[in-house]
Amino acid sequence: MRPKVLLTHPLLPEAMDYLSREVDLELATEEMILPREELLAKIADKQGLLCFLTDVIDREVIDRAPELRIISNCAVGVNNIDLKYAWSRGLLVTNTPDVLTEATADLTLALILAVTRRLVEADRFCRQGRFRGWKIDLFLGQELAGRTLGLVGFGRIGRAVARRARAFSLRIIYYDPNRLEPGLEKELGVAFRPLDDLVREADLISIHASLTPESYHLISAERLRRMKKTAVLINVARGPIVDEKALAEALRTGQIWGAGLDVFENEPLIEPELVKLDNVVLLPHIGSATADTRRQMCFMAVDNLLRGLRGERPANPVSPA
Ligand code: DGY
Repeated sequence: MRPKVLLTHPLLPEAMDYLSREVDLELATEEMILPREELLAKIADKQGLLCFLTDVIDREVIDRAPELRIISNCAVGVNNIDLKYAWSRGLLVTNTPDVLTEATADLTLALILAVTRRLVEADRFCRQGRFRGWKIDLFLGQELAGRTLGLVGFGRIGRAVARRARAFSLRIIYYDPNRLEPGLEKELGVAFRPLDDLVREADLISIHASLTPESYHLISAERLRRMKKTAVLINVARGPIVDEKALAEALRTGQIWGAGLDVFENEPLIEPELVKLDNVVLLPHIGSATADTRRQMCFMAVDNLLRGLRGERPANPVSPA
């Protein structure tokens, strides 16, 4: 008998076709948000779950599925899953690392450039028919060469951003709870700073950490106050790492210069005060959204799920270590 699998939202069609040939598949919804009651009802008889970062897979959901063996998350971040509880129940949890590193790093640089050169504001200006000719002070922005980029989180994506940043002649400092060996820091051309020093020193601060209880509101009102008035904050990781209300206030009052956000504290809701501001660029969580990357994420999530269901070791287990 084929294993029963719940897919919370559609995958790209080719991956969904492949999956449906291998398992007894139920697609929970075509919508962006799956109502909790539906998730709880549909998971009950399943052995496998393929879900996304928008699905909260907590103790209650896991308890509803006595036969569940594997949770395959189609995302690298797994903050939507109660990992400890899943592991305590002996479940396999998998994610989709690596394939989205380059796309997310590209988007980070795109946001840095969009904010520092005020691209979105300038685009709006043109569309509104307000461009009447070249002017010496039209949309003055910030240059990158010689400035300091502070990376908060220095895993795969942080390092990919660092590689790109060097081409823009940025100086790179980083904070990560796990400091690199000095030899590796030298090889990568980066210097470690404690977080409070980093926020004071950096001209651009870009977040590449995972969301955990420790990183919740890591960028707090207090740390925003310590940033330079010319500082730019970029977040392509997870919204709750930044205190979004405090950020809106810092941007409104000119406490910092600008921000670029691909993620929000309460997605899909965006803090209304942010929406009113010109010095922030807002994107709908598209860090990994290239056709190639999303395709690879889908197939990786399917492959992890199928291997787990066959009792094999999936390629991307998320493990307590
Ligand atoms: C992830 O994978 O965690 C991203 O946020 C979405 O691709």
